[in-house]
Amino acid sequence: MSNLSEDRIYSGASSDQVEEDLQPLVAFQDEGLSLEELNKLVEERLLPHLMRYDRTTFQSMFNAFPEEGAHLGAKIALTYNQGVTNWQVSPGGAVLEELCCRALCRLLGLSSGAEGTVMYCGTYANQQALYIALHRRAEQCGFNLAEEGVQGFPDPARLAVVISAEAHFSLKHAVRTLGLGQRSLITVGVDENRRIDVEQLRETLEELRRSRDVFCIVVTAGTTSTGSVDPIPPVADICDELGAWLHVDGAYGLAYKLVPAWSRLFAGLERADSVSWDPHKQFGVPIPSSLLFLRRSEDFDRMVLFSSYFNRPDAVEPNPGLKSVPSTRPFTALPLVTSIRHQGLVAVVERLRAPLEAIRDLAAYLEDQADMELCHRPDTGILCFRVIPEGYAEDRLDQLQQYIYERIMREGERSISLTQTDGRTALRLVAISPAVTTEAMIETIEKVRGIAATEPVI
Ligand SMILES: Cc1ncc(COP(=O)(O)O)c(C=O)c1O
Repeated sequence: MSNLSEDRIYSGASSDQVEEDLQPLVAFQDEGLSLEELNKLVEERLLPHLMRYDRTTFQSMFNAFPEEGAHLGAKIALTYNQGVTNWQVSPGGAVLEELCCRALCRLLGLSSGAEGTVMYCGTYANQQALYIALHRRAEQCGFNLAEEGVQGFPDPARLAVVISAEAHFSLKHAVRTLGLGQRSLITVGVDENRRIDVEQLRETLEELRRSRDVFCIVVTAGTTSTGSVDPIPPVADICDELGAWLHVDGAYGLAYKLVPAWSRLFAGLERADSVSWDPHKQFGVPIPSSLLFLRRSEDFDRMVLFSSYFNRPDAVEPNPGLKSVPSTRPFTALPLVTSIRHQGLVAVVERLRAPLEAIRDLAAYLEDQADMELCHRPDTGILCFRVIPEGYAEDRLDQLQQYIYERIMREGERSISLTQTDGRTALRLVAISPAVTTEAMIETIEKVRGIAATEPVI
C-alpha cells in the first residue's frame, strides 16, 4: 500500500520535511484529480509519514488498529447514516446506540439502573460528568445550575473537585470550562504504585472540611502515565460519607475489567455515579468511540435541551441526542457493535489480555536487569522504567532518558514514550495491540541499552 519499508514504523522525517512533502495535497487552486491520481498522491506524499499502529514496534500510545468487524460497521455508517443524534436522522441508529449502551452497562457490571451515552472523547465524557456532578450539588443547594450558573452558589470559590496527582489533564479542561477554574482542583498524592493515596485523601479532606465544598472526587481506573488503577471501594466510602459525587475516569483502563484476572482491580465500579470509557483506545474500533455511563439513568435529564425543530419535547422515540451536548453525533456505536459481534466476546477478551500479560512479563524481566529501574508495578498495559548504566552520574539520568527517547523516535523504527514519575524522567512502553509481545518490547529494551552505551556526552 505504501512505500514505507518493513523495518520502519513511520518515515522518521523532520517536521519541515513532512511539511514539504504534504504541500501538493493542499494545492486547492489546482484542477480536480481522479480517484486514482488522488490515491497515488496520498500514497506517495502522506502514507510514509503516518504512524503504523499495527506494527509490533508501536509501543508508545493508546492507538489501536481497527479490526475487520469495526471496518464493516464504519463503512455501513458512512454509506447510510453517519449521524445518529435522534430518531429523525436515524431510527435504527438511535435505537442501536441505546441498546449498545445498555448492553455495555451489563457487560461491565454497572448497577441495574445505569445508562450510557456515546461521547466524542474521554475528555468530554469527564467534562460532562463533572457538570452533572455540579448540577446535583446545585440542586442540593436549592437551585438549578442550568439556569443560574455557578453564581447560584453562595460562595462558588468554595467548590472543589479532588483528584490524584496522576489524574488526566482533561480534568483541568473540565473545571476551566465549567467556570470553576483550576484552583477548584485539589490534588492528592499517589502511593508507590502510582495509585491514589487513600490515607492522604482522607487527611486532605479533613483539612478542607471547613474551607471547601468537595462536590466530586475522581478516581482514575487506569492512569495515563502508568496505567495504575485507583482503588474504588475506599473512595466510594469517602464519597458516601461526604455526599460527594464519585466519578471513575476509566477512559484508558476500563476495558480491562472484562479480563477475568484483572477485573478485581475494578471492584466497586457499580458504586460510581459516573464512569468514562474510551473503547477507541484498545478495542480496535475507529476514533471516536467514547462513552459516559451514569449510575442513575435519570441523571442524564440534567443534559436535556429541546428545540422546536430538533429534539422536540413531544417526540416519544429514543433520542440519544438529549444526553449530551453535540447536536451532530457520529454513529460510533455501530463499529463497536459490529466489532464485538464479529470477534465474539471470548476473542475480544483474549485481545485485551495478551498485552496485559506481555507488560506483566516485561516487568518481571526488567526486575532482574541491574541497569534498569522500574518506576511502578504495572496494573495494566503500561510500564515506566529508567535505564541506569553502571557508574552513570545521577544528575544526568533524566537527560539520558530524554535523549534515548528522542533518538528512537528520530530513527523511525519504533515508537516509545516519555513521562515523569516523582519529578524524574522515565521511558514508557505501552502495549495496546496484542501484536506487542514481551519479545517485541525486550527488543526495545536492547535498543535503549545500545543507545545508552553509545550516548555522547550531553
Ligand atoms: C485516563 C484518561 N482520561 C481521559 C483521557 C482523555 O481521553 P480522550 O483522549 O479520548 O479525550 C485519557 C486519554 O489518554 C486518559 O488516559
